[in-house]
Amino acid sequence: MISYYSMLRTRPMGRYHVQVCTNISCMLRGAEEIFDYCRQKLGVGHKQVTADGVFSLEEVECIGACSWAPAMQVNYDFHENLTPEKVDEVFDGYKRK
Ligand code: FES
Repeated sequence: MISYYSMLRTRPMGRYHVQVCTNISCMLRGAEEIFDYCRQKLGVGHKQVTADGVFSLEEVECIGACSWAPAMQVNYDFHENLTPEKVDEVFDGYKRK
């Protein structure tokens, strides 16, 4: 029953929880490719956590950043107009924290 509510979790996510929007505006601007890139880069799938516990990944519905699609949210930070290169920069930035 608890799994019905996407904001409630039955196990801990990573220190940095990456939520990639694949809803319509983002999808039209390459969000599926961005999500696939994140999966490859982190080596985890939807709602999975990296072995070191640093990152978790989730495919989500609209996060309200449609004008800057494709977009993702990491904890409370928004990252927009994503490209694979920008995803690399974002992940590297969190790894250095
Ligand atoms: S559709 Fe992706 S932020 Fe709205």
